[in-house]
Amino acid sequence: MPLIVHQHSKAHLYSFRGLIYFRDLVDLRSTPVTASTPTPRVAVAFHSGYGHTAVLAEAVRRGAEKAGAEVAFIPVDAITDEQWAQLDAADAIVFGSPTYMGGASAGFHAFAEATSGRYLTSTWADKIAAGFTNSASKSGDKLNALNFMTALAAQHHMIWVGLGLAPGWNALTATEDDLNRLGFWLGAGAQTPQDGGTETVHSSDIATAGHLGARVAVQARIRVAGTSALAA
Ligand SMILES: Cc1cc2nc3c(=O)[nH]c(=O)nc-3n(C[C@H](O)[C@H](O)[C@H](O)COP(=O)(O)O)c2cc1C
Repeated sequence: MPLIVHQHSKAHLYSFRGLIYFRDLVDLRSTPVTASTPTPRVAVAFHSGYGHTAVLAEAVRRGAEKAGAEVAFIPVDAITDEQWAQLDAADAIVFGSPTYMGGASAGFHAFAEATSGRYLTSTWADKIAAGFTNSASKSGDKLNALNFMTALAAQHHMIWVGLGLAPGWNALTATEDDLNRLGFWLGAGAQTPQDGGTETVHSSDIATAGHLGARVAVQARIRVAGTSALAA
């Protein structure tokens, strides 16, 4: 059955085998931004051993900034006291790690363990959380790294935001250049050849990470605005 793509003012819909899928339901223009809408603060807290995951972290940062957030960019293996304070002040934290040995990297785990004091005091409760990871193999057991990030977020009583994209590259007319080409829902998953430089991070994966950053910024804005409205 052919893939039928419908254009819609707020969403791109496509149907496949009789099912309707929504692509990119987050239309940034549909979120009203007024002078009184507070600027959401998003932090990108990531580890990258060889620079690939850092390219995705940059894309998350750019996506969040384009969606109007103020972004703190935090490589967690060199985190400073000032950056811990930025995490505490953030409305949303996007976690990022390469997948090493079928899970998050030791550098990311060291950071996660260092958050245990904040776990005890629920310092990060009700902040929005999301995650991204990168590995050399198409699967590479990346999902375990994202699962760890969701558990970390849940232990902190954070609110997990998934990728919000339909899976790409999964039909005859689909291509490797689709957004979400690796078909993740929990977060953004990327694949980079292990012997490639940072310039070999796939453009679709960069765009997908950018989408995640924008989505988190929009959701953080809605939450901040809603919390202020309820308090008024
Ligand atoms: C110690 C180590 C373990 C790795 N384990 C995996 C793995 O389980 N699955 C996989 O697909 N790639 C694995 N890789 C490859 C990395 O995920 C890949 O090279 C990734 O792009 C590295 O990201 P980075 O440059 O941000 O460190 C591993 C690499 C290293 C150094």
